[in-house]
Amino acid sequence: MAEDDAVPTGVPDAPGRLPLLGHLVPLTTRPLPFLRSLADHGPVVRIHLWRRPVHVLTTPELVHRLLVQDASNTEKGFVFDKARGLLGNGLFTSEGAFHLRQRRLVQPAFHRDRIRRYTEAAARRAVAEVSRWEPGRPLPIDRRMHELARDIVVEALFATSLSPVQKDRIDRAVPVVLTGFVRRALYPTARLERLPVPANLRFDAAVRDLRTVVDEIVTDALPHRGPDSTLLTLLLTARDEDTGHAMEPEQVRDEAVSLLLAGTETTATTLAWLFHELARHPGLQDELAEEVRAVAADGTVPWSELPRLERTRQALSETLRLHTPNWILMRRAAAPLEYAGAHLPRGTEILFSPAALHRSPRLYPDPLRFDPDRWRHPGDHTAPKLFIPFGAGRHKCVGESFAWPEMLVIAAAVLAHWRLGPATATPVREATTSATVQPRGPQLIAVPR
Ligand code: HEM
Repeated sequence: MAEDDAVPTGVPDAPGRLPLLGHLVPLTTRPLPFLRSLADHGPVVRIHLWRRPVHVLTTPELVHRLLVQDASNTEKGFVFDKARGLLGNGLFTSEGAFHLRQRRLVQPAFHRDRIRRYTEAAARRAVAEVSRWEPGRPLPIDRRMHELARDIVVEALFATSLSPVQKDRIDRAVPVVLTGFVRRALYPTARLERLPVPANLRFDAAVRDLRTVVDEIVTDALPHRGPDSTLLTLLLTARDEDTGHAMEPEQVRDEAVSLLLAGTETTATTLAWLFHELARHPGLQDELAEEVRAVAADGTVPWSELPRLERTRQALSETLRLHTPNWILMRRAAAPLEYAGAHLPRGTEILFSPAALHRSPRLYPDPLRFDPDRWRHPGDHTAPKLFIPFGAGRHKCVGESFAWPEMLVIAAAVLAHWRLGPATATPVREATTSATVQPRGPQLIAVPR
């Protein structure tokens, strides 16, 4: 049999497949319990999205192999094939030798000195933001965190601020793009994407808007290729080691879109979940507030003092575990792979869920409990064994080294000034309509400290 005609063998089908829909119903209505339950059926389990077979890795060992050892034998998968045409070929969507080259060019933007600068700017912006909050009024924390994360990424990486029209366009476009991205992955045929129905028209308009705003930002940056370069000027002046060629402005735009999409909703969602958890754990919240105020009474934590926010970091780690933003990630076999007796030929679509793995009772006892104490002694044997909120291997999050200090300074700004409580007793729900798991439900009430 020719390689491309080969079919995966040694893989059980997940139960509950419906004739036409496959496993679409549990995957869209209760995704995290469903993805967690697949571990009961084996280390590699087949599910169907309509008729498309997708192979799910359910153990940390296999996921690690996929991302690290087998990185050069994998591509990003069918979801990204579609995204590339729409969002361009930035780090988030690109693969292979091109990705490695671009990654080398983008990486200098995340050197320590630059991150220190971005973090100091983020800390100032966060304190300014929280000083505008109104005591006792319902606070849409998710929205506030999205706006803040957007401004911070734009300012840090592109050294510019946005006009109100641009802000509005980004705020509308990013969620529509990330939601549409997931929805389109679940369409049974690409033909549906071309139907002029409202969801498709909204999606197309959002992609256009995002590209327009980023074009404007790149065009603004073009004349300022000075020595104190921003990410954009770094990219515009970078030279390919082998060819000596500069990056086309079009490619710079694609990288900017990637960073904007990958770097806002993830951080914003993590922070929103942190504050929802702290609202439900007032004792812990007070403890963190005390830690912050001992370091910086006004909540503007200097870079050098960040290591002192140990307890806050533990709470963030636990948030990234229990509320891991990325609920599914994908790859495709670019060469035959063999996992735990399952033979996956080239072309096999592979899926794994960092969020589901982080809720495995094998790795984290009592996994649904929010317990920052798990992270008290990261060196000892009780410390968690698998923690991949930022992925692993060659596609590991390029922004992680910024995301941590960014989230710490935002948390500090809030905790130093406000005590947060839930507006009602209704529990928060998890929504997975977007690429990240979003909190839905009651707003918070902020009272001055
Ligand atoms: C809590 C915050 C964040 C989380 C949980 C997160 C998570 C992730 C994950 C899981 C990946 C790997 C995807 C894969 O393997 O397919 C990734 C990649 C990426 N992230 Fe993040 N991220 C965060 C913040 C950021 C920030 C702040 C930026 C930039 C400012 C950023 C930019 C990117 C980019 C460009 C990629 C693609 C990297 C590549 O393929 O080389 N992320 N992120």
